[in-house]
Amino acid sequence: MDTEIQGRAAHVAAIRERAEADMKAMGIDEAFIDRLVDTFYERVLQHPALGPVFDARLSGRWPEHMQKMKSFWSSVAFRSGAYGGKPVQAHTGVANMSPDLFPQWLVLFSETLDDIAPNPEAKAWFMATAERIARSLTLSLFYNPALDDPHRKPA
Ligand code: HEM
Repeated sequence: MDTEIQGRAAHVAAIRERAEADMKAMGIDEAFIDRLVDTFYERVLQHPALGPVFDARLSGRWPEHMQKMKSFWSSVAFRSGAYGGKPVQAHTGVANMSPDLFPQWLVLFSETLDDIAPNPEAKAWFMATAERIARSLTLSLFYNPALDDPHRKPA
């Protein structure tokens, strides 16, 4: 049993070391993640469609959100386990959330990375990760299996 736990701990440590090496090779460090999150949400607030949706939910709680987003991206990049939240639940019940906001979120994220990413590989890594999560959030929040029912009568 002890050896099994030790084996698992070694496996987790190896995954973490590998992630740290991969990120370092792309010039991604904690300072960059801080800057990315600060710059991106500054722009989110100025965005005509995204800004009001975020601000209505986060008014008075922005510092906490920024801390959470830094810990989230750091966890994903370095596999550190620092973020223990539940992204799907966090997006449930956000007023005026709609599927078309996700492509706009991704465009803004991409433009932010164009301006500040250390290199194209770093941008590609953040974009691939964000696109995967955006797809998964869109499905969790909006997918309705009934719409795929082959026997469904056209409206
Ligand atoms: C249309 C796009 C999006 C909108 C409008 C949106 C909005 C929000 C809002 C309002 C919150 C705060 C919830 C709260 O604390 O009450 C939040 C949290 C969060 N969002 Fe998004 N989001 C979007 C897309 C994304 C994407 C693409 C990602 C990942 C790449 C993401 C990751 C997160 C995470 C990790 C949290 C924190 C969850 C927690 O509380 O632990 N969001 N989002």
